[in-house]
Amino acid sequence: MGLLGAGVVGSGTLDLLARRGEQIARSIGARLQVRRVLVRDLARPRAVTIPADQLTTDPSTILDDPSIDVVVELMGGENPAVEYIARALANQKHVVTANKEVIAKHGPELLDLANRNDVNLFFEASVGGGIPVISVLRHDLIANEITSLRAIINGTTNFILTAMEQGRSYDEALAEAQRLGYAESDPSNDVRGTDAVYKLAILSTLAFRTNVRPSQIGCVGIDQLRQKDFKHAAGMGYVIKLLASADVGAKGIVASVRPTLIPTSHHLASVKGVFNAVLLDGDQIDKFMLYGQGAGARPTASAVVADLCAIAHNLQRGVIDRIEIAPQDRPIVDPGDMLSRYYLRLQVADRPGVLAQIAQVLATKAISISSVMQHETDETTGVAEIVIMTHAAVERDSAAALAEIRHLDSVREISAVLRVER
Ligand code: NAP
Ligand code: HSE
Repeated sequence: MGLLGAGVVGSGTLDLLARRGEQIARSIGARLQVRRVLVRDLARPRAVTIPADQLTTDPSTILDDPSIDVVVELMGGENPAVEYIARALANQKHVVTANKEVIAKHGPELLDLANRNDVNLFFEASVGGGIPVISVLRHDLIANEITSLRAIINGTTNFILTAMEQGRSYDEALAEAQRLGYAESDPSNDVRGTDAVYKLAILSTLAFRTNVRPSQIGCVGIDQLRQKDFKHAAGMGYVIKLLASADVGAKGIVASVRPTLIPTSHHLASVKGVFNAVLLDGDQIDKFMLYGQGAGARPTASAVVADLCAIAHNLQRGVIDRIEIAPQDRPIVDPGDMLSRYYLRLQVADRPGVLAQIAQVLATKAISISSVMQHETDETTGVAEIVIMTHAAVERDSAAALAEIRHLDSVREISAVLRVER
């Protein structure tokens, strides 16, 4: 095989193959042999030793070499990764990738190309790090109609949120997540929610057998959150998570990634640090949850090597796995249609009638208030902080109400708007 990339995951994969190669060869009856490794910078120090004659900066020495059966794409980013994967498939090479952006944006086309060329395209490591969620959706839950999915699928943000809950700063936690190899090369993809959107697109597409594209998923990141949100949430019996949600309703599929208050009794509330979890509702199994480390070299390499072993099995039996990614064609509903309770944190002038004004605007959109907390006024500024919990409201209505509230002369700032999960 040829590896494209020897960063966190590529080095982890090479290390795992070096340590477990013999054992794996005995288990699968075939030896996984690395022929070449593509990198950008030949001189960069690596976490593993790679023989100099294996390292290359020329992709054609892998993509066009007929002695290479399998290409393992671990470079990341959309381009040139998508072109390299397509070229490998067109050259009848099997492909394993951890690239959620490429699979979320181009999965159906690439799987079609793989099917036409009689090769496998596997992507277990693209979602949930070491959790075998793709395999479970494709094989083990095939007899189910899945109607709902709730997931924590970004290790970096969950690591940051857990650290903030414990009183540490956002910047310090992000720096540590980067040092530990959890974050994307551009960490704004993690903290703005984009990475979770890619993963939710892949999971929803497989779970609901309908092609769900990243552009159809609502996205809000974690950058609005402050330490005080964690304190207010804890005081009311909640934790804050970046929650990926998708449901099949009467009108179709609705999917979004949002920072969300989750009751401390919820299955996902205890998912801390780099751990991820996927909670599914299937008509045969009812509730079902997968849990494990969602990022990092070792868990992700575990998923990559599992895909390599599956390909080795298929090669020995002379078969391929045809992944029909979207045989159903359900409509995708605008995320604005999503129904949810909300947590609102606002800075307002401390004077009579302010709460009544805000309640009035919410009432015009039929949004009912469930509780209000006002904290002591800052005497120097005359500004008070209020936290409002609403009853369930349609996201579009709540956004319209907040746009009006923002323009009330008594409202200084809407500091946080978070969904609240039941
Ligand atoms: P990384 O540490 O940044 O490594 C990327 C590797 O690809 C580096 O070796 C780099 O070469 C090489 N590369 C990048 N662009 C290249 C180009 N145009 N030509 C040649 N080589 C190129 O990234 P990573 O964290 O390993 O992530 C790799 C993939 O796995 C991404 O798709 C990511 O989303 C996914 N993933 C990561 C994790 C995780 O925990 N990190 C978990 C699951 C999935 P140089 O070393 O010479 O710069
Ligand atoms: N940056 C990703 C995360 C890597 O933090 O979850 C795993 O896909």
